[in-house]
Amino acid sequence: MKRVITYGTYDVLHYGHINLLKRAKALGDYLIVALSTDEFNAIKHKKSYYTYEQRKMILEACRYVDLVIPENNWEQKTEDVRKYQADIFVMGDDWKGKFDFLKDYCEVIYLPRTPDVSSTQTKEYLNCRNL
Ligand code: CTP
Repeated sequence: MKRVITYGTYDVLHYGHINLLKRAKALGDYLIVALSTDEFNAIKHKKSYYTYEQRKMILEACRYVDLVIPENNWEQKTEDVRKYQADIFVMGDDWKGKFDFLKDYCEVIYLPRTPDVSSTQTKEYLNCRNL
């Protein structure tokens, strides 16, 4: 069984996320999503609209996702790959080259990002809209 792992915040889940998760799952048989915790988001100076538990619940309802684990820091990736026996590490190509150090432990694949959609853009739009 081929195991795939990917990382992200996945706030206000959108079709760009689904595109990424669908292609990630198609690379193997079992997809693990390491989901940024609210504490880790704060370290990155990000704030999600949905809490960690809410984002986790939404991702767990997605047919492509088999397991959601917490992402607590930048350094845990090597240990996660070992612990969860991941064969492939996947990220969108906005991260191209950033995680090449994992090539010593598994295959590293950057998938093309879906154009014209992001959580930040969606949140900005919804804030500004005159409902
Ligand atoms: N992603 C993608 N296409 C998009 C948006 C995101 O392929 N249009 C991918 C990212 O490359 C990453 C994963 O989805 O591998 C999770 O990304 P995340 O940062 O949570 O989503 P964004 O919408 O980019 O969020 P933000 O606007 O806060 O950066």
